[in-house]
Amino acid sequence: MLPAFGIPPAGVVALQTVDWFWLIHPAAAVVIVYPLLGMVLRLGLQARARRLGQTKLPVTSGRDHADLGRWLTAAVVAAVLVALVVVILSKVLLGDGPIDLARMALLALVTAGTAVSFSCLWLVKRAVYRGSFALLCWIGLIGLGLQPEVWRLGDNPFQPAFWQSHFWGGIGLCGLMLFSMAAKPETQRSLRWRRLHLSANVLAALVFLAQGISGPRDLLEIPLHWQKPAIYACDFGARQCPAAAPAQP
Ligand code: HEM
Ligand code: HEM
Repeated sequence: MLPAFGIPPAGVVALQTVDWFWLIHPAAAVVIVYPLLGMVLRLGLQARARRLGQTKLPVTSGRDHADLGRWLTAAVVAAVLVALVVVILSKVLLGDGPIDLARMALLALVTAGTAVSFSCLWLVKRAVYRGSFALLCWIGLIGLGLQPEVWRLGDNPFQPAFWQSHFWGGIGLCGLMLFSMAAKPETQRSLRWRRLHLSANVLAALVFLAQGISGPRDLLEIPLHWQKPAIYACDFGARQCPAAAPAQP
């Protein structure tokens, strides 16, 4: 048997299938989202430097930045959708209570609607459609995120816990990315929109940084599935756990 809080013996992988599902989101963030963010940031700074007169930079940097920006938005939305679906499904399917099939069907519809809204945002051209599909996609993510299965550090913006919350950071980031994607043609055309884009994305860069800290923090705090009964018996406020039972001879 594995020691409850120790290092697994050599050769033993302590994760069960459900834990691997929980790993998809952090792995996607590390392997796809953050490398893309690096490229988008660099190309954005090049586009700005070029516009401010440093003409040695490639003409394509603005267009490449916007193209990769769309993929960055897609990666962020997909990573968040995966996290929410995994959290909700694993808690519903592995919980003790009865499964409310009508609610599950409604949530499946919202998930599909969110993905379809994003695909439409990618395809449509008219400003009113771009705005509507971006908003629909964001509302879908918020609707899924507000389900009782999704744990949130705090919901009150007047308390520090809200600003340290990985969930609200993620929702805010999705909003900023969807806005940038919806306003892409305007950002290309007008200086005023470019300034707005820049302000929104300086904020987004800071939230990306915060997510890169609060995500690993959550990863440290969430126990493996088979460890949950022991860990959740602890008093989190007092940071104390019940004394371990003496080892059997
Ligand atoms: C963290 C993410 C992002 C950052 C830091 C960022 C930063 C920037 C910067 C610095 C510029 C140059 C502004 C100027 O010329 O003064 C720019 C331009 C632009 N960005 Fe972004 N951006 C981000 C995400 C996105 C996304 C997701 C999109 C949407 C697809 C996007 C679309 C554009 C467009 C269309 C331009 C104008 C390019 C041109 O001049 O042709 N950006 N961005
Ligand atoms: C692009 C940056 C990221 C965004 C927008 C984001 C957003 C989210 C959202 C909205 C959730 C669901 C709510 C919740 O359970 O807290 C979530 C869950 C989670 N995130 Fe992130 N996250 C990002 C990066 C990361 C990183 C870098 C890690 C760790 C390396 C991480 C670890 C987690 C973990 C452990 C969960 C719990 C659920 C699960 O694993 O599926 N996140 N994230």
